[in-house]
This record gives sequence, C-alpha cells and structure tokens, in this order.
Amino acid sequence: MFQSSSMLAGTPSDYLAPLYHAPPQAIEALQAGLLARPAHIDPKYLYDALGSSLFTAITQLPEYYPTRCEAEILRDHATDIAQHAGKVSALIDLGAGDCVKAEKLFPSLRPEMYIPIDISVEYLHSAVQRLKNTYRDLNVSPIGEDFHHELTLPDTIPRSGRLFFYPGSSIGNLDPERALALLIRIRQSCDDGGLLIGVDRVKSRHVLEPAYDDALHLTAAFNLNLLRHVNQRLGSDFDVRHWQHVAHYDEDHARVQMHLQAQTDVDIHWPQAHRTFRKGERIHTENSYKYTPEGFRDLLTRAGFSHVEHWSDACGWFSVFSARA
Ligand code: TRP
Repeated sequence: MFQSSSMLAGTPSDYLAPLYHAPPQAIEALQAGLLARPAHIDPKYLYDALGSSLFTAITQLPEYYPTRCEAEILRDHATDIAQHAGKVSALIDLGAGDCVKAEKLFPSLRPEMYIPIDISVEYLHSAVQRLKNTYRDLNVSPIGEDFHHELTLPDTIPRSGRLFFYPGSSIGNLDPERALALLIRIRQSCDDGGLLIGVDRVKSRHVLEPAYDDALHLTAAFNLNLLRHVNQRLGSDFDVRHWQHVAHYDEDHARVQMHLQAQTDVDIHWPQAHRTFRKGERIHTENSYKYTPEGFRDLLTRAGFSHVEHWSDACGWFSVFSARA
C-alpha cells in the first residue's frame, strides 16, 4: 500500500522520528512532573543517543572544567590514590559509559576484575569487547542496572577488596539526602574495600554558571534535547524553539539549577492530558550540587566510611576522594 500524500503532510520530524512509547509507570511519572507546579522532568531523559553525544561534546568545552580537573587529579595523583585504595580485587565502575575513565586507572590500581555498571548493557557492549581484547588477563563482567535504585552484585564478585569508582561528580546530581543513601548502599556492599569518587566544589558563580551555560550553547542544546526525547516517549508536542535553557547557581543550596523556560505562552498536549505554560514559566530538569571538602568528608563519614583522603586540581575547583570502608 502506498501512503496517501496527505499522510506525509507535516513537519519532517512527524514521519522521521518514530514514537517509542514508554512503559506505563514512566508515562505516569512524566505526566505527574509536567502537571506539577513548578513542573519538572526526570534528568534521565537528558541521555538519549543525541543527548549522550552532546554531553561528550560538553566535556570538551573550555567552560566545562569538571572533566578536565578530574582527569588532572587522577593522572597526577595516581600513585597516592592507588596506595590509599590498597589491593583491588574488583573495580566496580558506577555509570561506566565508554569505560575510558576507569581504563586509565588499570596500570596503577591493577584490578583483578572490572565490573562496569550502566543503565544500558548494550551501551557498554563495544567498550567491553575492546577491553577484553586489550587486557586478556582481566576478568571483565558488565552489569546493566540502574544503581541509583538498587545495587545488587553477583556472588562471583568477592566482597573483600571491592573498589567502587563513581567519577564525574555525578553524586552532585542527587540531593544530599539521596546522595547519603547511595553512599550508605555502597558502604554496605564492601567489607574492607572502598570508594573513589569525584566531587565538584563550591566556588564562584562566575566559574560555575558558564560551565552550565557555555558560549557555543552546547549545554542549551543538551538541556533542550530532553524535550524532544520526552516527545518521543510520551507523544507530547513540545516545540524546542519555544523554550530557553536557564542555568542558575543557588548559593543557599550550593547547587546549579537547570531549567527550561517558556519564551511565549504555550499549550502542550499529549495523549492523556495537556498543560498551558505561561511565558516565563519554567520546567526544572537537573540540579548539580557542589560541596566543600569538609562537607563531603562529613557525608562520607556519616555513610560509615573511615580513612578519608582527598586530592585537588591546581585551581582547587574539583576533588577526588578516596574513602575506606
Ligand atoms: N553530571 C553533569 C553535571 O552536573 C550533568 C550536566 C552537565 C548537566 N551540564 C548539564 C545537566 C546541563 C543538565 C544541564 O555537571
């Protein structure tokens, strides 16, 4: 059967982008967030294929210092870090992605096993193949799970000598209460092991805000792309051109807050409901909490870790903490 020409009328995206509807609980959650006042959307919708590529590009921007500072610390203090971490039976990489950050630690940490964990095990696949070919003696066992909700590791991973690796200051995307809960779960998953974690620090808004609102507008594209992803999941009709990326450092909460702001009055429809947003109304998409070294040390101690050590980059903008269970 040929499609009639009227079925092909509309914008290119109408027939190029198929609708991948989300499971009912995800639809419910998306809908509740959109109808809430103020509205919010789960930051996990930032990371579809295009969003992940945009984030990789962001990490190469001059304004986005966290990736560079963390790499500098892990490189310049590799020996001290390895000494503090002790014997590593299993290196457990939380949110491993392309596994490149962890791979740089292999020469100094010399793990027997490498366990990359990411929401999508398919996403890990090519990286794992590459590692298996390069490090023939290393036992590489990927796990596809959302460790923010649960952290279950198979019994094949020895409990002793586990080192959890949580880089990129991703801990800052959780509010402090949820961050503490995750740290407690990690602490409970290792007997005499530890945690190596990257943490972004409290600093001037003149450094923080450009890192989340860069001159090339890649961060704006990254945040706005979430609306396209939501359109695909929910069947909504957000027009990205009606929205603006806004990043603001809230000093009282020590967090950069990311929003999308309506530039005009808009009515958004999806199969189950609709909502009007007035010009200037915002949708919250992400928080990025910043810590002082004392504040983060305190959080680790409250989670039950001891022997906390940390290293900084030359500017003092970022810290890598090593904590023993
Ligand atoms: N984990 C990153 C961070 O907080 C995520 C991030 C970077 C981000 N830029 C963003 C999230 C812009 C939303 C919008 O540093």
